[in-house]
Amino acid sequence: MKSISHICCIGAGYVGGPTMSVIAQKCPHITVTVVDINEKRIAAWNDENFDNLPIYEPGLADVVKEARGRNLFFTTEVDAAIDKADMIFISVNTPTKTYGKGKGMAADLKYIELCARQIARVSTTDKIVVEKSTLPVRTAETLTSILHNTGNGVHFEILSNPEFLAEGTAVQDLLNPDRILIGGDNTPEGQEAKDALTSVYANWIDRDRILQTNVWSSELSKLTANAFLAQRVSSINSISELCEETGADVNEVARAIGTDSRVGSKFLKASVGFGGSCFQKDILNLVYIAKSYGLDKVADYWEQVIIMNDHQKKRFAEKMIASMYNTVAGKKIVLFGWAFKKDTNDTRESAAIYVTDYLLDEQAEIVVYDPKVKEEQIYADLDYLNTRSEEENRRLVTVVSSPEEATKDAHAVAVLTEWDEFTTYNWETIYNNMLKPAFLFDGRKILDSSAMKEIGFKHFAIGE
Ligand code: UDX
Ligand code: ADP
Repeated sequence: MKSISHICCIGAGYVGGPTMSVIAQKCPHITVTVVDINEKRIAAWNDENFDNLPIYEPGLADVVKEARGRNLFFTTEVDAAIDKADMIFISVNTPTKTYGKGKGMAADLKYIELCARQIARVSTTDKIVVEKSTLPVRTAETLTSILHNTGNGVHFEILSNPEFLAEGTAVQDLLNPDRILIGGDNTPEGQEAKDALTSVYANWIDRDRILQTNVWSSELSKLTANAFLAQRVSSINSISELCEETGADVNEVARAIGTDSRVGSKFLKASVGFGGSCFQKDILNLVYIAKSYGLDKVADYWEQVIIMNDHQKKRFAEKMIASMYNTVAGKKIVLFGWAFKKDTNDTRESAAIYVTDYLLDEQAEIVVYDPKVKEEQIYADLDYLNTRSEEENRRLVTVVSSPEEATKDAHAVAVLTEWDEFTTYNWETIYNNMLKPAFLFDGRKILDSSAMKEIGFKHFAIGE
């Protein structure tokens, strides 16, 4: 069997960075080089101060500390790293297309194709190419077609090895995954490549948790896994609205159904809406693929998960506005949390962005506090929506670093991310700081409702 001594990963982002760090930590005999065209990002990965790594993940700094400079390297010298490697992971971004056919739905494969062409151009020895980014089904076919037509005699074997790590628990998910999925061709060369990648993971993961499939099953499994998870959140969120009308409590309903072992207890936490770089993108992809095969009923079925999620974000903002006597113009509203979930600084598709956008439409004065997200990111997220001018966003939105101070003279506080620290605040002091009546909107249902009402808040929690 082919043994792997040099790995190159193209893309030093949320997926590539942590995944390669763990592979390097667990496989000291393999040289792992992570490349990116973004010089700032690479410089941050190489920063002497481990607090400055470009990605915040619990435990990640320690892993990087152990392996960096030993067998883990970050560089912008893409070509050299590609040529030296016997295995290349493609871990570049695949955003939803913003133009042309499939706009707003299909994945933009421009970066993947550029990577494939670059690999084809510089490779002088045989390579196993692994697709690691979330990709639409049949991307491997595109890669194969580009790589097999280079005419320079180099052999490429294409594998699909989807990432199941969740942000905030990425290191734990990598160290102790439920399963590793490796898709490849059912040819002798394909089998050899699958076995080579299996042996990399087998350095720290039981072989019975490493599943081998054909390429298409592997690619489709990734989309399906995320679609099922997102569907659970939309399902419980749909019930949260019904709970608010009927007097049922969504946490009690979630617990009651979650104890049925066939349903299971995870991913049943009602929220202001799911975010993150994967769920929406992957479902849109699934919908697009289904439509492209003429499977309209399948497409409509999955699209409903997104429609429900958009509804949940909008309905939360509308609830805030309606509660505050149908006007928030000029009112100071403090948002606790901007990240799409706790323990990450990632804000992609975060519900907070959309809730803020609705509130800004109503001329609210927004103050944001998030323990990990930087001010420039918050403005960038709002600017990206293109709803109003950059000046307007900066005039109406203030980003602060001290949460309790921010609540001085506020009309309302809304919890949008479930950061643990929010539950430890002195809510009595916050209440005293605020104008009365003091409104509190808990979009994550993490605060003790009766305690909050006891303090005096006009309190609303999702699904209650
Ligand atoms: C997800 C998948 O879990 C992971 O396997 C895949 O590789 C990438 O996409 P991630 O986006 O990091 O990971 O976060 P996840 O923990 O799945 O949460 C997604 C969103 O759903 C978050 O906004 C979260 O707050 C929300 N969520 C999750 C809920 O609202 N309720 C829940 O019960 C669970
Ligand atoms: P993900 O969440 O999928 O990891 P990110 O956006 O965090 O996505 O990271 C993807 C990285 O890939 C970015 O840092 C980007 O600069 C990098 N990238 C994109 N195209 C190329 C390329 N052709 N060569 C090297 N790096 C690339």
